Amino acid sequence: MHIQIFAHPDSLEHSSHCANLYKAAFSEAGTRIWDKKEFLKILDRPSCILLMTPVSFILADVVERETEIIIIAVHPEKWRQSHGTEILSHFFDFCRRAGLETCTLEVADDNNAAKNLYSKFNFENIGIRKKYYRRKSGLVSAIIMQKRFF
Ligand SMILES: CC(C)(COP(=O)(O)OP(=O)(O)OC[C@H]1O[C@@H](n2cnc3c(N)ncnc32)[C@H](O)[C@@H]1OP(=O)(O)O)[C@@H](O)C(=O)NCCC(=O)NCCS
Repeated sequence: MHIQIFAHPDSLEHSSHCANLYKAAFSEAGTRIWDKKEFLKILDRPSCILLMTPVSFILADVVERETEIIIIAVHPEKWRQSHGTEILSHFFDFCRRAGLETCTLEVADDNNAAKNLYSKFNFENIGIRKKYYRRKSGLVSAIIMQKRFF
């Protein structure tokens, strides 16, 4: 699968791709769906990095020697076919080449697929934001996870 990495994403073109995949990937979770305008704002930030394939994307911020994954999403028709593993592996290769030291992210405590994926890449729990995400069924905590590259 060809993975494109954009340190300066083309906001207009890429915001549509992100918004469509995001809607497909998150609709069942009951979270608020970000629209194209919200992605435009993020993609316009100088710190933003975008990796994308036709069925997946990662949006991250890079500040000095740290990165934070804002979103990783794979199209639901392609779940459990290693697309998440593949795009994350490329992102971490990029991080190591760039000399980054840490990668941090937040994941909802009820998102077992994502928590398992991050554990496979040796992320560790470093904190918790209690009752952080709003679901139709109630509030869910955010687990803060971090991976060190060196
Ligand atoms: C989380 C997500 C990116 C995983 O992508 P994916 O392409 O399905 O992941 P992979 O096929 O590479 O799976 C890698 C590992 O993740 C874990 N995993 C993936 N899906 C899982 C599931 N449904 N249940 C439990 N573990 C799961 C497993 O450990 C899996 O390894 P295995 O297949 O050897 O058991 C995808 O489910 C997704 O887009 N979800 C909706 C968006 C989201 O929640 N993003 C993360 C929060 S920002």
